[in-house]
Amino acid sequence: MSPITQIQPLDVPSAIAKRRSIKTFKPDPITPELLKQLVELTVAAPSSYNIQSWQIILVQDEAQKAALSAASFNQQQIIQAPVTFVFAADPNASEENLTPIIEQGLETGAWNEGTVNYFKIAIPQFQAGLGDKRREYAIKDAIIAATHLVLAAESLGLSTCFMNGWIEDKVKEVIDAGDNPNLAIAVVVPVGYAAEPRLNPGRLPFSSNVSVDRIGNPYQG
Ligand SMILES: Cc1cc2nc3c(=O)[nH]c(=O)nc-3n(C[C@H](O)[C@H](O)[C@H](O)COP(=O)(O)O)c2cc1C
Repeated sequence: MSPITQIQPLDVPSAIAKRRSIKTFKPDPITPELLKQLVELTVAAPSSYNIQSWQIILVQDEAQKAALSAASFNQQQIIQAPVTFVFAADPNASEENLTPIIEQGLETGAWNEGTVNYFKIAIPQFQAGLGDKRREYAIKDAIIAATHLVLAAESLGLSTCFMNGWIEDKVKEVIDAGDNPNLAIAVVVPVGYAAEPRLNPGRLPFSSNVSVDRIGNPYQG
């Protein structure tokens, strides 16, 4: 039996509740089948106009892991975990992706000719209108995909750690994107089997950051 069928996946609320940012991983590998399932669930994420502005790099090679860790203030999770997903964001993705995305939308029947004709005009217009927010919008797509990864991994018995602690230019050099000035690094996520549990550090009460209708009108729960 493959590891995928052995695992009884956690439902989404359970995966959300159980997830912790894990700082130490066992060296145990992730099977290729399980890794593929993770990648499929990651790219199942929604994105603005379905443009999928992410570029996802699976860092597995030992030398690459060492270089990525060095670019990340020597955080050891990257060395220990069998794979680290680097989520990069391409603000110009729509230029390349628009045509295949439209073709797929038609092929699947999800979009009709009317939708497609609208998107052909609306998407380039929307992207142009974003101006210097293009990078920010591409990063939104990538972060949502990373969140899919983290919850899918938890559900399938793995652990993760979202990571912001890295130097963007150095990470770009590691993934061979040093010569692409537009590509942004959104987040880095090691994935593997937890070596030790971590406690939930807790969350602020709703009253401090959840409001009803207007900010400052606290949600009472
Ligand atoms: C965007 C983001 C960046 C983070 N960067 C790091 C990091 O570089 N290194 C690290 O050890 N933890 C990092 N964390 C983990 C946080 O410290 C952790 O999520 C927080 O303390 C709450 O703990 P929990 O994830 O177990 O609920 C990051 C989390 C997020 C969401």
